[in-house]
Amino acid sequence: MKEPIKGFSKLSKAAKLEWLTQNNFENPEATLELFQSYWHNDETVQKKHDDFIENTMTNYYMPFGVAPNFQINGKLYTLPMAIEESSVVAAAAKSASYWMARGGFKTEVVSTEKIGHVHFMYEGDASPLFNEFNALEEQLRAATKELTANMEARGGGITAITLVDKTADLDHYYQIEVCFETCDSMGANFINSNLEEMAKSLEAFTAAHQDLNEDKLEVVMRILSNYTPKCIVRASVSCPVSDLASEGTTGEDFARKFKRAIDIANAEPYRATTHNKGIMNGIDALIIATGNDFRAVEAACHTYASKSGQYRSLTHCSIENGTFTYWIEIPLALGVVGGLTKLHPLVVKALEMLGKPNAEELMGIVAVSGLAQNFAALRALVTTGIQKGHMKMHLMNILNQLEATPEEKVIVANYFKDKVPHHREVVNYFCNLRGVPVPKVGG
Ligand code: HMG
Repeated sequence: MKEPIKGFSKLSKAAKLEWLTQNNFENPEATLELFQSYWHNDETVQKKHDDFIENTMTNYYMPFGVAPNFQINGKLYTLPMAIEESSVVAAAAKSASYWMARGGFKTEVVSTEKIGHVHFMYEGDASPLFNEFNALEEQLRAATKELTANMEARGGGITAITLVDKTADLDHYYQIEVCFETCDSMGANFINSNLEEMAKSLEAFTAAHQDLNEDKLEVVMRILSNYTPKCIVRASVSCPVSDLASEGTTGEDFARKFKRAIDIANAEPYRATTHNKGIMNGIDALIIATGNDFRAVEAACHTYASKSGQYRSLTHCSIENGTFTYWIEIPLALGVVGGLTKLHPLVVKALEMLGKPNAEELMGIVAVSGLAQNFAALRALVTTGIQKGHMKMHLMNILNQLEATPEEKVIVANYFKDKVPHHREVVNYFCNLRGVPVPKVGG
């Protein structure tokens, strides 16, 4: 039986690895060797990785691919994509070329504000807070003056402070809701620091006010919201419907089927979840490559997809007067300074590859990546089916699992050039080629 360990975090990396491998693996020596083989050979680079998180033992590699030919607002980009799933990068690249031939992508940043809250309870008459909100707001702004000075110099800062009565949702619950402009940073630290100062200021205001009672006030949390419906970007493509024609399908037919696919994602949450998952393939890959927080982006996008009360498609489509227009509108709170942006050598390169965009430009590029990904998936789904292209890209994974030689890979890839390479069929063909028995299912 495994024993718990106390003080693990205080051990050296070597001692942690020793404990980990000795207590969790059948072959500790081989495991240690494997973990060490994933260390960077430059110690300073490895030290950076060690310091990103806690208890780092090794590095977990993720492929860093690129998708060229993205024409966005008339400018050509190559997108960096960090993702483990086959066919995502190929799909992005295919969509990029497809839309480059039809005028490219357009983007528009609709808004850029982020939101944070001081969540508090007041178990008494809170009306003095509302009646004298101007005085409270003045005090809150004064309390954060020093913290916001640099951001204001960059053109950002606090844009609005509101007192919100949430007692209809939860007894005694109120919020100070604060909107922030955080320029090129994602702004999490900036927002949270300001909210913590504001909470202290709220407590002081309450204590000093003759009609309020500090004992009835409880500040519960001071935290940014990862839901950013005031930080919205839109990316779109548009072309004559007739330009959508491809082998065997008229433009009209393709556009109609494509729109149907989006209608279904709007009507059916089961489909919307998969539809939006495909969009996130494109978004997350770019978010990870550029050192941003994909959990925050995921959370925001999924909440936004539910804003009508039902989980729906993040992409939209119209066919009007012979024109096909297809767009995505999503909340994206991104940074190009702070966080990993200067620390991770590949993030630095990813941003350089994109021409060192500011946060707004990056919002547009990321939205385009999501739209392109959704286009490729829907295009495949409403025509050939997804498995043809996906399995074609996945074939190498199967062959690597089978430990195929380079020569065998060529022969198998050639055989499946015009067929969908379903897993079982690849295994069968490969075993016949090698002259070995086909393994039993589950064996
Ligand atoms: P294809 O037409 O067989 O590819 O498409 P091709 O060999 O004719 O090449 C055409 C272009 O595709 C290339 O142009 C590349 O841009 C790209 P070129 O570079 O030759 O000028 N491309 C590649 N790029 C890099 N490496 C490659 C490569 N192959 C093609 N090896 C493709 C094949 C997979 C692109 C197509 O079938 C496709 O787009 N399929 C959709 C795949 C997809 O959406 N994958 C996402 C994962 S599935 C999923 O999780 C989401 C989903 O469930 C979401 C939903 O349901 O909505 C589907």
